[in-house]
Amino acid sequence: MTDDLRLGVNIDHVATVRNARGSAYPDPVRAAKIAEQAGADGITAHLREDRRHISDADIEGLMGALEKPLNFEMAATAEMQAIALRHKPHAVCIVPEKREERTTEGGLDVAREENRLAHFIAPLRDAGCRVSIFIAADQRQIEAANRIGAEVIELHTGAYCDFHAEGRFDHRDDELKRLSDMAAFGHSMGLEVHAGHGLTYDTVQPIAALPELRELNIGHFLVGEAIFMGLEPAIREMRRLMDEVRS
Ligand code: PXP
Repeated sequence: MTDDLRLGVNIDHVATVRNARGSAYPDPVRAAKIAEQAGADGITAHLREDRRHISDADIEGLMGALEKPLNFEMAATAEMQAIALRHKPHAVCIVPEKREERTTEGGLDVAREENRLAHFIAPLRDAGCRVSIFIAADQRQIEAANRIGAEVIELHTGAYCDFHAEGRFDHRDDELKRLSDMAAFGHSMGLEVHAGHGLTYDTVQPIAALPELRELNIGHFLVGEAIFMGLEPAIREMRRLMDEVRS
């Protein structure tokens, strides 16, 4: 296993299945433990304001059970900041959040909210959390993320994956070029660069090949594949594909 490209496994959608029936299973903490055994370098969980998947109790359970670092995804709200400061996870990834969206649809507009976000992340950094900002592959946003004091940026791969799925390969390749250029740009500013959203076995390798990337965060596809092959083999295959292009 290479240690230069980490795999963060997002277990949100284990909780989506659980919540569809209001039952106690499947348990996202159990999934996270399996992910650790399967080669995940960290676990990612998004506590949404409407608690549609991960719950407060899940975060508590993950903090108590994990051996690998937790990457806590959250909106830039006072409530989420208080929860993060209580648990002090290894990493905090600030994402935009709209109640009506199905998933995190775009990156954060850091450039528009620079002052507020600078004040918002300062206590998180002071508490020892690595602060990451989820943004589009856009130079203005990367510069703003750097100015507010983020240590990490996570580039949104959703558009690249959507273009691939729709067979719009010219657009996909343009997006990949943008991601590649902006990963290099972010790295040149001293930021650690991550990427994620929508990645599958078909789309992961060109992204994993970008040399400046240090971490990919992948969830929905893996939880879907787990239905067919089990969670552990699904994660091992993703890890294998990432290692293949890095070796
Ligand atoms: N990274 C971020 C910042 C996200 O918001 C998400 C989705 O919660 C992911 C990665 C994982 O995306 P997916 O579940 O589509 O693999």
